[in-house]
Amino acid sequence: MSLLIKNGTIVTAVDEFTGDIYIKDGKIAALGDHLSVQADDTVDASGRYVLPGGVDQHVHYTFDFKGENVRGFETSNAPVAGGTTTVVEFINQEQGKGIAETIEKFDREEFANQAMVDYSFHGVVCDPTDETFEEISTLPEKGISTVKLFMAYKGMPMHSDDESIFKALRAAKEAGVTVMVHAENADVIDYLQKEQLDRGNTEPYYHAESRPPLVELEATQRVIKLAQMADAPVYIVHVTAKEVMESIRSANEDGAPVYGETCIQYLMLDKEALAEPNFGGAKYVCSPALRTKEDQEALWEAVNKGWLNVVSTDHCGFNWAKQKHMGIEAFTDIPNGSPGVQDRLGILWTYGVNTGKISRQRLVDLYATTPAKNNGMDHCKGHIGIGYDADIVLYDPKPTSIFTNENSLHGVDFNVYEGMEQKGKVDKVFLRGKLMVDEGEFIGEMGDGKFINSKPYGLCYEGEAYDFSYKARA
Ligand code: URP
Ligand code: ZN
Ligand code: ZN
Ligand code: ZN
Repeated sequence: MSLLIKNGTIVTAVDEFTGDIYIKDGKIAALGDHLSVQADDTVDASGRYVLPGGVDQHVHYTFDFKGENVRGFETSNAPVAGGTTTVVEFINQEQGKGIAETIEKFDREEFANQAMVDYSFHGVVCDPTDETFEEISTLPEKGISTVKLFMAYKGMPMHSDDESIFKALRAAKEAGVTVMVHAENADVIDYLQKEQLDRGNTEPYYHAESRPPLVELEATQRVIKLAQMADAPVYIVHVTAKEVMESIRSANEDGAPVYGETCIQYLMLDKEALAEPNFGGAKYVCSPALRTKEDQEALWEAVNKGWLNVVSTDHCGFNWAKQKHMGIEAFTDIPNGSPGVQDRLGILWTYGVNTGKISRQRLVDLYATTPAKNNGMDHCKGHIGIGYDADIVLYDPKPTSIFTNENSLHGVDFNVYEGMEQKGKVDKVFLRGKLMVDEGEFIGEMGDGKFINSKPYGLCYEGEAYDFSYKARA
């Protein structure tokens, strides 16, 4: 099976050129100007941008919040329709089970049959035993090279204390496993939540009031110091606020292997959305909370300059009519997380590239190339180059439409970008050479997606010492 994609404007993280891509057996086999090859099929990509398929390193298809489950992989056509061909899913370790054991169950029973997108996993440490910390260094053998710890959710099984984080950092470092952290001070949040409820402040808006930027800043600074003491790299997920971004930036500029991502909702929405009447604000309840327009501007600058290296979605398919309404009496019972996995490329194109905030190359880097590298998938994903998987998006810059839940495949009853304009659209998407989206319509099948091995040392290169050079100043 071979395919030739001709005359497109090919965009990578570093360049842009008009040319042809020859695909054989699901991989990119040749790149060039007017390739003279015979292919089984030919697609003329004139007038369209040819991008590597996106890699969303932060999605939730198995998350549960106080017993409410998100939509699962039966809705994994949504990322592909929006130009994302690989997702990395967080799997919460089950009590008494190993991280890999918990993950294997999902891969065998659920994901393998339903996947319409390629996928890999982050293991979430939930059972902080000696066995769990010992297991961390063996995870890369099973194709898992990232673990996540949550500092944010007091009283829930996934919550971790400093001791667990420190032990995980120590164990992970040895094997090149990357530790990702959701950084918010859970004790302070718990106190502030109770204080708001005692005052009768039960509406969604108080979600943001009870998780101010300082709780995110304190935890971020703490985990940077924990990583410094463990002499290990660390990755901060879903950064929302200017000062948090700046603390990551300055640690990194001091030579520390500290990195972070943000998500499209933090670039696009502010906390006033939480005040939408008639419980509409619940749609925007995610943690950390939405911030201000000033933070949005700072985050756009940060992703442009590389102070944050990835834009993800933190996609959570909770519906509003039933699941978000769990919190009608108290905002603390609203399931945390919002959908967005289909909208990432369209948002970054329309509000990043089209406004001049980022270049097309920068978009490709933020949405595909660096997330693939962070997660040890840069041997096959995130780039248009010879030998890479033929995960390719044809983006047509001409049409204009709106983001609306009517066109969303995420399987819930709202879209947080409802009514916003989109410039251009995803025209075709190939997953390892197979056409999955044609003229914007998803035509793939369940089972088309497959598990991708993540290799260790995603945040540096094997053999390279992690360098906390500012350690000396302590
Ligand atoms: O509110 C959010 N972000 N829900 C998903 C879980 C997490 O914290 O990443
Ligand atoms: Zn989180
Ligand atoms: Zn998340
Ligand atoms: Zn690598």
